[in-house]
Amino acid sequence: MPVLSSPWDTPDLVGAALSASLRIGYLESTRSETGRFLATLAASRQGVIADLGTGCGVGTAWLRTGAPASTRVVTVERDPALAAKATRLFAGTGVEVLPGDWSTMGWSAHGITSLSLVTIDIGTAGGSRERLVDLLAPGGLLVLDDVHGHRNFADDRLDTMALQAWMHESRLLCTEVYLAPDACVLLCARR
Ligand SMILES: C[S@@+](CC[C@H](N)C(=O)[O-])C[C@H]1O[C@@H](n2cnc3c(N)ncnc32)[C@H](O)[C@@H]1O
Repeated sequence: MPVLSSPWDTPDLVGAALSASLRIGYLESTRSETGRFLATLAASRQGVIADLGTGCGVGTAWLRTGAPASTRVVTVERDPALAAKATRLFAGTGVEVLPGDWSTMGWSAHGITSLSLVTIDIGTAGGSRERLVDLLAPGGLLVLDDVHGHRNFADDRLDTMALQAWMHESRLLCTEVYLAPDACVLLCARR
């Protein structure tokens, strides 16, 4: 049974994903503060939850660790080499690795009509805001990672505009959550 309550514990599946990440020098993986947050949210989720942009699978591993066994966990990656690595990493864990572009793939072909929790970095979400909100179930949660929150507003005008666009999306209710002094996510609930 993985232990999530002690900050210094790294669940086995997360450790395996971090090792895979280090082996290829991949430095864009989800931070542990964010991962722990994702696992905690996942514990309340049923249906299908997703990491859009698998990378080396760190965020996905946190989702799988936190979610109930009955909750379906999918992860989508458009880079074929990363998708293949993730398929090997998650073999036997119940995580489904879907190679392709999350914004254009046919979700219904995988028997998925909506998602109850999504994690994605704000850059990968890019200009596909409408599509992403469409995919969320009513009451579904969205965690946008790698956000420059209001404390850094002066730093980068484009980041500020991107954040404002999400916060003004009428179908979402959003709030910034600082998980560390230098790590902010936008947590959004689908109305
Ligand atoms: C910041 S990394 C993701 C980190 C990962 N979620 C984690 O937990 O460590 C972004 C990843 O998204 C992938 N990506 C970017 N755009 C995508 C898209 N439209 N569909 C699927 N994957 C995408 C990139 O190839 C890259 O691996």
